[in-house]
Amino acid sequence: MFEFKLHKEAADCSARLGTITTAHGTIQTPIFMPVGTLATVKAMSPRELDEIGAQIILSNTYHLYLRPGHGLIHDAGGLHKFMNWEKPILTDSGGFQVFSLGDLRKITEDGVEFRSHIDGSKHFFSPEHATEVQMALGSDIAMTFDQCPPYPCEREEVRKAVDRTTRWAQRCLDFHNHDYQVLFGIVQGGVYRDLRESSTEALVKMDFPGYAIGGLSVGEPKPLMYEVLDYTTPMLPREKPRYLMGVGTPDALLEGVAKGVDMFDCVLPTRIARNGTVMTSQGKLVVRNAAYARDFQPLDPDCNCYACSNFSRAYIRHLIKANEILGFRLTTIHNLHFLLDLMSKVRQAITEERFLQFKDNFMRQYNGEQK
Ligand code: GUN
Ligand code: ZN
Repeated sequence: MFEFKLHKEAADCSARLGTITTAHGTIQTPIFMPVGTLATVKAMSPRELDEIGAQIILSNTYHLYLRPGHGLIHDAGGLHKFMNWEKPILTDSGGFQVFSLGDLRKITEDGVEFRSHIDGSKHFFSPEHATEVQMALGSDIAMTFDQCPPYPCEREEVRKAVDRTTRWAQRCLDFHNHDYQVLFGIVQGGVYRDLRESSTEALVKMDFPGYAIGGLSVGEPKPLMYEVLDYTTPMLPREKPRYLMGVGTPDALLEGVAKGVDMFDCVLPTRIARNGTVMTSQGKLVVRNAAYARDFQPLDPDCNCYACSNFSRAYIRHLIKANEILGFRLTTIHNLHFLLDLMSKVRQAITEERFLQFKDNFMRQYNGEQK
């Protein structure tokens, strides 16, 4: 069960408003997906995720395969039931994660041999295996097993990764067989325009129900990422969802939306929260800094999340300095609420045909960064 409906397209940029319907319900796009790598969005219960307006979360094939194992999750009734999250789930294929292992992995045409980051044990992932694991997890959207080259990377290396990613995408598609789960293709090609073109062309021929743009946000300068998006999104089918992988800073989300992206995910909001940093309407704020020791304002005076409605910067700073769990929970609640709320405002602005104006206003305020 999968349907993407395009409800509106902006006249003055490529922003789009849509809905995606899966077996576990409908989500509104453009959307940000909080990351729940190990079948938990760190520090958040599903009830709290619900309360801050999360519509879909992302989880990771590689991590769940290693721990607790996809067989166990399948026997528990699937990932939704196992973690008690009833809304849609997207799983990344593990491609990105195993390629990040560096010396711990070996790539061949058949797949990737890697060592577990937990106990060093040897494993092998192929396109078929990555697909099989995702089917066992029962996510609503699965991703093809791709090869994401680092940045910077020689053209010839990226060309090889694109060709392999194309062959692997076909193998995932041939193997995939699930009642309600759909499989998205992932475009690679680094920062080389012709390689992005050949990758997109080959994947579009395979007629996936949705497409991700991979291989970005891997260390390249932001203007370069925007340039790649400028020529890549128009090559993707208008009537299918587009997902920019690994992007979650407010400026990149707004640029991505303006360039026609519908879905995003990133560990950033949850990761920086656990290290005492929050995103606010006035820019990033490192609440663990001494400057906030006696600051009795909320994290973001313009935010109405549970943390901002009830606690001060001084209190949250105290909790974090003392390593109290509640401190990290409150910064996580705030950061996720902030991005989900931003995307909700984005959708409202597209509806009211004032997205570019909203983007300019937001960025002007956000860039007047606080100390
Ligand atoms: N997450 C961020 N970038 C990527 C990518 O290129 N491929 C996959 N599979 N996941 C990602
Ligand atoms: Zn808040």
